[in-house]
This record gives sequence, C-alpha cells and structure tokens, in this order.
Amino acid sequence: MNERSLKGKIALITGAGGKQGIGRATALKFAEMGADIAITDFHRAPEDLPPPEAGTDWRGVESVAEEVRALGVQCHTVMCDLSQGTEIERLIDDVADHYGRIDILVNNARAIIGRDRVPVTELDEAVWNHFFAINSTAVFLCTKFAGRKMIAQGGGKIVNIASLASKRGAALQAAYCASKFAVVGLTQSAAVDLAKHGITVNAVCPGGVDSGRLSYEERDKAEEAGVSLDAYRAQVIERMSQASPMGRVAQSDEVASLVAFLASDEANFITGQSYNINGGAVFH
Ligand SMILES: NC(=O)c1ccc[n+]([C@@H]2O[C@H](COP(=O)([O-])OP(=O)(O)OC[C@H]3O[C@@H](n4cnc5c(N)ncnc54)[C@H](O)[C@@H]3O)[C@@H](O)[C@H]2O)c1
Repeated sequence: MNERSLKGKIALITGAGGKQGIGRATALKFAEMGADIAITDFHRAPEDLPPPEAGTDWRGVESVAEEVRALGVQCHTVMCDLSQGTEIERLIDDVADHYGRIDILVNNARAIIGRDRVPVTELDEAVWNHFFAINSTAVFLCTKFAGRKMIAQGGGKIVNIASLASKRGAALQAAYCASKFAVVGLTQSAAVDLAKHGITVNAVCPGGVDSGRLSYEERDKAEEAGVSLDAYRAQVIERMSQASPMGRVAQSDEVASLVAFLASDEANFITGQSYNINGGAVFH
C-alpha cells in the first residue's frame, strides 16, 4: 500500500461528518491514497452534536469535504437519513451519477447510542427498530444498491464497520450488539453472493475508539453527576483503557488504516472476513 494506491478510485463513506470520527479519518486516509471521495451524513439538531463539535463552527461533512479537497482530490457531499430506506437508493444514484462509478463503499454510520442502554426487558421496540434500521438495514441497502453498480462496473470493495459488539454480547446493549452481529452475517453472505463479480465484502470490528461520538446515556449521566460531558467522556475512555490489554483505546485513524488496506488491491483475495482491531480484547 502506498500513498497513491487508491488513485482513480471512487469511495463512498457513510456517517462521515464527525470531527473525530472513524468516517472522517477514513475519508482523509483514502484521500491521501489518491481516491476521490463521496461522504454522507444526516442533519443533527444542535443538542445532538457530539462534544468535539458542540459550540464550534464545525459543519459536518462540509468541513470534512474541505479537508479532503485540501489533499488534492475531489469530494462530493450528500445528506441522507439512513433510517429512511427510500433515501438510500437516491444516495447511491447521486454518487454514481456524480462520479460515473462507485469502487469502494464503507458502511460506517450507526444509530446514536444511549437510548438502547437499558436491560432487554426495558428496551423499547422503537429503539430496537431504529438500531436495526441504521446499523443493519442501511448496511444491507447500501450494499444492495452500490453492489449493483459494482457488478455493472466489474468489481468493487465493500467494508462494513462492525464492532467488538459484533463478537460478544454485553449488558444493556441488546439492540446494539444484535444489530452489529447482523453486520457480520451480512458481510459473509454478501461476500459469497458477490465474489464472482470481483467484489469483496469485509468488516472491521473495533473495540473502544476515541471517536468523540455522542452517547445520550453519557450525556444524561454527566448531567446527573454535575460534570461536563467532556469530563465524563474522559472518565469513560479511562475505564475502557484500563480494561484493555494494551492499556488504551484506538484512535480513529488506526481503524481507518485497516479499512484502507481492505479497500486496496492488496486485499483482493480477502472476502467475508470480520477483523478485530481492539488491542487484544477478544480473539475470534
Ligand atoms: N467509537 C467507538 O468506540 C466504536 C467502537 C466500535 C465500533 N464503532 C463503530 O464505528 C463506526 C463509527 O463510529 P464513530 O464512533 O466514529 O461515530 P458516531 O457514533 O458518531 O456515528 C457515526 C455517524 O453516523 C451518523 N448517523 C447517525 N444516525 C444517522 C442516520 N439516521 N442517518 C445517517 N447517518 C447517521 C452520525 O451522524 C455520525 O456521523 C460505527 O459503525 C460504530 O458502531 C465505534
């Protein structure tokens, strides 16, 4: 892999507007490797902005697009609420019409966590459905519609951002874990369906990542404790770090490096795999 190994490729990344997120890190990594980029996210209310963005002049995908273009490649932005299945075909058509093709799809977006963090007996069906809509169904629909474009082009690469929660269940995470386990099954089945078309489908499974993401649960607990969300989040990162064999969580660009490898021609014979990137937390 070198700095031009994605030159000429068109890459679409979902959920890429976060200032510190894995989506942005992947867009920048791909851009450094020469790909032209399409990024998408949905509109968030000001109160739903994650701590690194709240009260700043960060403009989501538009800010990421400026950073990407500064690296000398093109960047196209599309707003899309992935909980609306009908918007997804429009998203894929928009990107394919804009660039003429889609070579790489990274399914990175996820439902904002927090409202799911209750025992399974207390979990609202609407919350469960919302998690499946974004974490599983949107991954399926993006794969379906981008996969059709890739079949017509004669190949492509799909990388799904799954999770340690795709490999191991955890208390208060029934909706998150179940919807992320689904991504591993989808990855394997889609990989077999699409193998004959020269399309690979893989997943990466991060453990804790310092991605600056919002959790409604953490926001409520910070309020209860009378500390800032930033301070509360720092405590959460510290606890996760202590629980990790390597004594820390991942940075977003470490996850992006694995995604970039799987999206490159060096990974042409790898498909249907779900790779951990968790500092040694689980091994299967
Ligand atoms: N941060 C972690 O500790 C961690 C750990 C394991 C796996 N992951 C996975 O990595 C990926 C990226 O996570 P992150 O922490 O960088 O970012 P994140 O949690 O902030 O979410 C990613 C993006 O999804 C977008 N999104 C939410 N609802 C949406 C909707 N309805 N339509 C369109 N977009 C929507 C958000 O706006 C955000 O930009 C996710 O799939 C997540 O499950 C993260």
